[in-house]
Amino acid sequence: MENITLGQNGPVVKPVCIGTWAWGDKLFWNYGNEYGPQELQAAFEAAVEVGVAFFDTAEVYGFGVSEQLLGQFMHKTTQQVQIATKYGPFPWRITAQSVSDALTESLKRLQVPKVTLYQVHWPFTFFMSQETLMNALADEVERGRIEAVGVSNYSAEQMRAAQKILTCRGVPLAVNQVRYSLLDRQIETNGILDAARELGVTILAYSPLAQGLLSGKYTVNSSQTPSGGRKWDPRFSKQGLQKIEPVISLLRQIGEKYDRTPAQVALNWLVTQGNVIPIAGAKTAQQVRDNAGAAGWRLSDEEWAELEKVSRPWRI
Ligand SMILES: NC(=O)c1ccc[n+]([C@@H]2O[C@H](COP(=O)([O-])OP(=O)(O)OC[C@H]3O[C@@H](n4cnc5c(N)ncnc54)[C@H](OP(=O)(O)O)[C@@H]3O)[C@@H](O)[C@H]2O)c1
Repeated sequence: MENITLGQNGPVVKPVCIGTWAWGDKLFWNYGNEYGPQELQAAFEAAVEVGVAFFDTAEVYGFGVSEQLLGQFMHKTTQQVQIATKYGPFPWRITAQSVSDALTESLKRLQVPKVTLYQVHWPFTFFMSQETLMNALADEVERGRIEAVGVSNYSAEQMRAAQKILTCRGVPLAVNQVRYSLLDRQIETNGILDAARELGVTILAYSPLAQGLLSGKYTVNSSQTPSGGRKWDPRFSKQGLQKIEPVISLLRQIGEKYDRTPAQVALNWLVTQGNVIPIAGAKTAQQVRDNAGAAGWRLSDEEWAELEKVSRPWRI
């Protein structure tokens, strides 16, 4: 498994990241009903075991529970674990001190003195300017509480602005975390992917399985129905599932050649691009193992191009 440097000269991390939005989240993901702390502990242990102990979380996931669970699980292992977490630029946070305070709380929940990556969750600038925010983050790099600075859901223009401020402090912008999968390819047409390449910023691809759709288990004929907020998502309706059938069918066909699952092929399509790290959300050890198997091999150029072609309708 080839590791990846975040940004120009940031920390070296695993080529697949494990997403933990569902860890403690009852609002969208139904935590506590279909899965709970035991399944998540097993998922955490599987990630350590198979060598993808790199987790993405946020202070808002499960209102802090995601970070708390990670903290508890990390406490029980001696292996190195890398954490990317996020700061919410909420309206009541108006001074640089609030960045420092939010990070202090995250570190307490995680029970660690520092994190690999600290990201701004959304580009809200109504109450704190990017100037203040980016400088506060650069201060934290200097203090040693974060190894690298990232943003999330930033446009190409917002990335450039953030990079410019950080560069003055000698802290390059390491990542932009955005939605990216075979069924969400807008970053290829709205300038984000090009800007990331030009600036040397790594893309962390969130919802890389289109919230489970690209695993191929939700089909028109299967009895599997999605839990939580996805029930109301038209992509999971009969019509929505019919529309994605050509993509799923090609994922299966390619997967059979390599003895890989559709999820592994879909994630490999991202990994193969280089400088793109999928953050695959997982609730079980089995899902972690499966998603880890997306790295360490390569689709051929022809297969990559076939998938690119079949998923073109999702570029806009
Ligand atoms: N920055 C942001 O604004 C933002 C927004 C969204 C997400 N994120 C990050 O990105 C991560 C991933 O995104 P996501 O959770 O929205 O979507 P995702 O990774 O595309 O899908 C995750 C879901 O797919 C199913 N799944 C995962 N692996 C599977 C496998 N191997 N086989 C079968 N099913 C599998 C699981 O749900 P079921 O088993 O229930 O189907 C899982 O909860 C989040 O956890 C979070 O860290 C960030």
